[in-house]
Amino acid sequence: MIDVTDPRVYRDRIPHEAFASMRARPGLVWHRYEDNGFWAVTRHNDVKEVSRNPEIFSSGIGHTNLWDLEADALEARRSIIDTDAPDHTRLRRLVSRSFTPRNLRRWEELTRSIARELVDAFLARDGGDWVELVAAPLPIRVILSILGVPLEDADYLVELSNYLVEGTTDQPSLPPNAFGNTTELRLLPFASPASHALFEYGETLGAERRAEPRDDLVTQLVQAEDVGDKLSHDEFRNFFHVLVFAGNETTRTAITHGAMALADHPDQWDRLVAGAGNPDLVDHAVEEILRWATPVLHMRRTAAVDTTLAGTDIAAGDKVVMWYASSNRDEAVFADPNRFDIGRVDNLHQSFGGTGPHYCLGAYLARMEIRLLLETLLTSLGERALRLERRGQPNRVASNFVHGVLSVDMAPVDSGPTR
Ligand code: HEM
Repeated sequence: MIDVTDPRVYRDRIPHEAFASMRARPGLVWHRYEDNGFWAVTRHNDVKEVSRNPEIFSSGIGHTNLWDLEADALEARRSIIDTDAPDHTRLRRLVSRSFTPRNLRRWEELTRSIARELVDAFLARDGGDWVELVAAPLPIRVILSILGVPLEDADYLVELSNYLVEGTTDQPSLPPNAFGNTTELRLLPFASPASHALFEYGETLGAERRAEPRDDLVTQLVQAEDVGDKLSHDEFRNFFHVLVFAGNETTRTAITHGAMALADHPDQWDRLVAGAGNPDLVDHAVEEILRWATPVLHMRRTAAVDTTLAGTDIAAGDKVVMWYASSNRDEAVFADPNRFDIGRVDNLHQSFGGTGPHYCLGAYLARMEIRLLLETLLTSLGERALRLERRGQPNRVASNFVHGVLSVDMAPVDSGPTR
């Protein structure tokens, strides 16, 4: 059996055949990892069961990434993702209002104008690296605006975020003391000195907002910190960290795989153009892009009690890993799952998690960003009878955690011949 935790396996693509054979086996598959292992949850329904039962499958015991952390490291690195109720409920309440559809509507115009500016620049230079020119700047600029981070710092935060992803690959490149870091790496998220830099940045900004409050999320967070029992100092810096990271890396990945899929399947692009003006089709395309991209490959839980899932006995303390990379291709739920089909309706992909209390906080925001970008592409390319073409292979991140792409050359081309 292929080791689906080996980052090198992901250098070319997700090992879909290995996941398909795990889905086909009855019960859960025990997968070795370092000196222990985990139950691999690969079917859609089983992922849902794990996600919706946090009292049984805990996020707070242990760590939600594959690797174990020592107790002090877990405490230092703990973010909303690695908590259970009641802490989780308290943390989530602090930010959830900023991410409701109603409140996000105020960011729609800004998002649309950023998308237009980026696509125009991409077309004006006749294409180039899609990640650098479009996919990375769009989500980071939006989340930084929501947080209240000055836009001139966007490039720096993208750079830090790239280094964080590197922490999940087999080739981290930063020395431990990069960015003036003196903290032991094991105490930092992704064991990366870039986390130290992101913490420092968040703390400086927090101090500025404390002195001069504004209508932004960082101000809201530092004000909650000042109330004392709402948010501790460590919680503030981990929150800032997770919002910057989760708010840009994942959506960037979806936008990149989405553009590649539309370039590689010109019939689906044509379908989108032909259906322009049908908002349902754009919404369906957004969901299919999310399923296809599966930006986060897995999340882990720890069994809090002895339990049974899919007929397999799980002992308290066992690790359980939900592989969204697999459940999003589950043939029991998706007809012809390996086909990119923007017309799928009721697309129950689990790219944002399998429901439950940890379901992605930014799901609506990510959907909005992808939808507005698609609409911008439809206008800018569609009206000029252009489509996207991929020039060469993507440079992918060899990570077992994110389905990242570092760069991919794309260009606008005449869409005539494919019709
Ligand atoms: C396509 C884009 C995105 C994908 C695929 C994605 C995926 C995920 C996944 C898989 C989880 C974990 C679910 C679980 O453990 O059950 C999650 C949680 C989270 N996401 Fe996203 N995410 C995306 C965009 C965003 C954005 C834009 C934000 C910005 C605010 C964000 C913030 C978070 C936070 C804070 C959590 C932790 C929620 C909790 O533990 O309660 N995500 N996301």
